[in-house]
Amino acid sequence: MAILEIKEYGEPVLREKSLAVKEITPEILNLIRDMAETMYTASGVGLAAPQVGVTKRIIIIDGEEEGLIVLVNPMLVKSEGEVIEEEGCLSIPGVYCEVKRSSKVTVKALNESGEPIKITKEGLLARALQHEIDHLEGILFVDRIGKVKRQLLLNKLKKQKN
Ligand code: NI
Repeated sequence: MAILEIKEYGEPVLREKSLAVKEITPEILNLIRDMAETMYTASGVGLAAPQVGVTKRIIIIDGEEEGLIVLVNPMLVKSEGEVIEEEGCLSIPGVYCEVKRSSKVTVKALNESGEPIKITKEGLLARALQHEIDHLEGILFVDRIGKVKRQLLLNKLKKQKN
């Protein structure tokens, strides 16, 4: 296992659209294991493959008591309700902002054995699922807030980097 480098805001790979995984190969399983180690080490709630520079449709979520949730080729099939909560991203360190999301979502995907699964989540996990699936489209949470707020956050980020 290895801890992978987390790509940060400004790296082009975060803006790419990820490609579907056609087959769960040993390389994909290794990637998933490394992503998990990377996420837990960084104390993140979720991680998407493009965040470690791999444009494949794989996300993982720390499901707390139910353990690691691995979703390959995830698809949001149902969204309900609306909730505004603070959100952050391992690729945009130190920046947090309130983001409007659906409060409950159902996602279809393959698990790491290649079997179709369907999960329904609320609260933090519903938020994490939407956030990570966004990454597969090259969308970051700062794209989902107002223009003025976004500019303020990105200025803050710039200052941190200098
Ligand atoms: Ni993120």
